[in-house]
Order: sequence, then C-alpha cells, then structure tokens
Amino acid sequence: MAAETLRKLAKDLNCDIHDEKLAAHLDSIDELKFCRSEFQYPKNKNLPPIDLNLVDGDEDCIYLCSNSLGLMPKKTADYVQNEVKKWSEMALYGHHHGVFPWEKAEDFAVEPSAKLVGAKPAEVAIMNSLTVNLHFLMIPFYRPTPTRYRILIEDKAFPSDHYAVESQIRFHGFDPKDALILAKIREGEENWRTEDIVSLIEKEGDSIALVLFSGVHYYSGQLFDMKAITEAGHRKGCIVGFDLAHAVGNVPMSLHDWDVDFAAWCTYKYLSSGAGGIAGIFVNEKHTKDDSIPRLNGWWAHRLETRFTMDNKMDLSPGAAGFMISNANMFATVCLIASLEIFDRVGMEKLREKSLMLTGYLELLIEESFGKGKDPAGKFYIEIVTPRDPNQRGCQLSVRFSLPIIDIKKELDKRGVVCDKREPNVLRVAPVPMVNKFHDVWRFIKVLKESADTVLAQIGTK
Ligand SMILES: Cc1ncc(COP(=O)(O)O)c(C=O)c1O
Repeated sequence: MAAETLRKLAKDLNCDIHDEKLAAHLDSIDELKFCRSEFQYPKNKNLPPIDLNLVDGDEDCIYLCSNSLGLMPKKTADYVQNEVKKWSEMALYGHHHGVFPWEKAEDFAVEPSAKLVGAKPAEVAIMNSLTVNLHFLMIPFYRPTPTRYRILIEDKAFPSDHYAVESQIRFHGFDPKDALILAKIREGEENWRTEDIVSLIEKEGDSIALVLFSGVHYYSGQLFDMKAITEAGHRKGCIVGFDLAHAVGNVPMSLHDWDVDFAAWCTYKYLSSGAGGIAGIFVNEKHTKDDSIPRLNGWWAHRLETRFTMDNKMDLSPGAAGFMISNANMFATVCLIASLEIFDRVGMEKLREKSLMLTGYLELLIEESFGKGKDPAGKFYIEIVTPRDPNQRGCQLSVRFSLPIIDIKKELDKRGVVCDKREPNVLRVAPVPMVNKFHDVWRFIKVLKESADTVLAQIGTK
C-alpha cells in the first residue's frame, strides 16, 4: 500500500508526510523522472487565467489534467515539421517516401498501441476518432434480433457514448426506453460493484446483444473489472466491448487474454497526441478471421499491396486493419507516433508502478490535510469519490467539495493549477507518472489549502 510505504519513508527521513522533503526524496529516486523533459511542460505565465501577483510566472504550472488533454512531446513539433517539409518539397511522393510514408504512416503506431492495451498487433488499427469508431464497431458488434436487442452500458456513461448507443438502438428500429439498460450504482454509494454488474448481466443477459462499458469511468475514475465483465457477458452469449478513453496509457490491460470482443480509444488524453488526435481500435482476432462479419468498408481496408490496382475488388487486409476506412491524416498520425515512442521506451508496467505511488501520495495528503470525509463541524470538507482500492482506479482522483466548485476552481486557476471540474461539485485531479513529479502533488495540496481558505474567507464576508 502506498500510504504505508510513504509513512515509513517519511519516518526514515525524519520528517512528516506533509514535509516538502518527502516529495523531493520521492522525485530523487524516481526512475522515470527523465520522462518529463521529453514533454513541453507549460509555465504559469502562459496560462490564460493566471494571476502573476500570486505565483511566479516562470515556474512550471501544476498540470494535473492529462486525463483531459496530455502534454505535447517535444518531438511532436519536429515530426510535424518534417511532414510539412516533405509535403512542400516532394508533395505526392510523400505517400511513398520519408520516415513515415503517408500511405502507411499509421502502421508505425500499431505495435506500440497493441502493447498498451495487451493485444496482438494484428488486433489493432489506428483510424478516425473515438465516437466515430464506436459507431463503426457497432456495425459488426451490435446486430440485434427480435429477442436479443438490448445494450447494457453504465449509468452516467460519457455523453458521447450514451448518444452513440441510443442512436444505434434507434437506427435498428428499437426504442432506447426499452433497449438501453443502464447499470446503476447502489443508492448511497459512489461506485459500481462488479458483483452488481455481473448479476445484472446474468439477469438480463438473454436479451442483451451488447455490453459496452468504459474501461475507466471518466467522472469517478473507477477502473472496471474488464475481465469479469467480459466473462459474465460471454456466459450469456453477449458481445462485450469497451471504451478505453480513460484507460489507455493509464492502466495496463490484457484485452486479448481477457477475450474482449472489441474496444476503441482516443489518444489525446494520456497518450498525448493532441486535441482531436487519431484514435485506435481493437478487434479480437477471433472476429477478424471471420470475413463474413458485416462491416462498412472503405478503400483503406484493402491490402496496401493491391490497394492502388483500383479494380474495385476488395482484397481485405487481415486483422483489425480490415476495418479501416479512409486514409489517415498524416499530421495527426505522426503526433501519435511521437508520443507512443516514449510510452514504448518506458512501458506500461513501470508507469503503473509510479502511478500507484503518485496517486497514493495525493490520496494520503488529501486525507491528512482535509480530513477523511464530512467535517463534523460542518465548515468544509473534501471527499474522495474514486474507489479507495488502487486496483479499482487509475491515476485520477475525483474529489467532491462542500464549497462551491466554481469558486475553488477559479482560485486554483489563478495559481497555475490545471485540472478540471465536473458539475455540480467535483474536481478531477490526475497526476500522471509520465510528466508529473511528486513535488507537483505537494504543490497542489498547498495551493488547494490556499484556495479553500480564500473561498472560505469570501463566504465569511458575504
Ligand atoms: C469516455 C469518452 N468517450 C467518448 C469521448 C468522445 O471522444 P471523441 O470526441 O474523440 O469522439 C470522450 C472524450 O473525452 C470520452 O472521455
């Protein structure tokens, strides 16, 4: 457990867990500390809401928002510039020449992506964007019949997923009121229990065509038990897919071994490919071997070797590549490659190891600084919404405030903390092992205290 290790370390250092010395020590022994210098880490002075009377403009900001948008790798600018140069100098020939020939640039992102999700390379393709891919994957994987036509998703799934699923149900002539099942959290609890999801699948499974869950929930940061959900779905004959937007690059996964049917993810969060970056899909090889499976084709599903024969006879690429549609945007593709090269060098296991400690440190400091829940005096409290079991979460902690979140967020913004709020009163805080230091977490807690004190004083004078 991170808390025990951290307390012991503080004792050995002869200091308190609140002491800056502990953060400095943790950073000094961090094997991954070199990673931060691979990224452009923003300075306070460049953040629009910053108040330079409160912080040093030349200091690094406190970036805890890679769950929304990852930082830019330094190599990205060179990689994009190379493609700009190639385009300007050789135009059409760029399709076949250079480090990343455009006709197959996305192939360079396949293997490192496959490692991140625990797939065989042939099970991964890089294409489109997340919601678009969810729709395209529901062509083969949501094939309702009069008796098996329902889709099970988690209650309060990310809106785009909810809308995509509702619209697919309507597209097939069913009514979401009946065909959409929402797995709910127990009254008075914050997170889903795996046993409840499993028993819901057991109860309703005969009418469920598709179970589509998040890997990690965007709001609470809960990491779902993808293996157990997949097994439960398969026991009842359902197809099981996952949206890995908040899981990829955050937690290790074994999609192939878990026998997941399909998955889709965006790459602009933990994978730092830039806003709107090119996305990824996983299709289990047991399905890719089935040529009869319905899919919406485009020319990019055609094998590269014969694609330009233009005889209009589909020569389908094997594996997940056979689900591709359009030629990929070369700039978006090289942005993803620049970031994946760093992930590939470090590996998900090491990232997870540091992540457990980093988030454990944040959790411990929140608890020790603001109490373990509702303050009996009723003055002010912060509650951690995310599961307390590290095996049931990634790096993000979602924290609920008794103070107006808009006011807290405004004070944090002024002081160079970048994280995001989710109404009505939750702040999502995501220290990531790739770019964050333990000292960022220590500074965050200090700034959070200042911000809460400022808001409390404002309330007091109203
Ligand atoms: C869980 C989840 N699903 C879907 C989306 C939508 O992604 P896109 O706009 O890339 O389709 C997001 C975006 O943040 C997300 O977090």
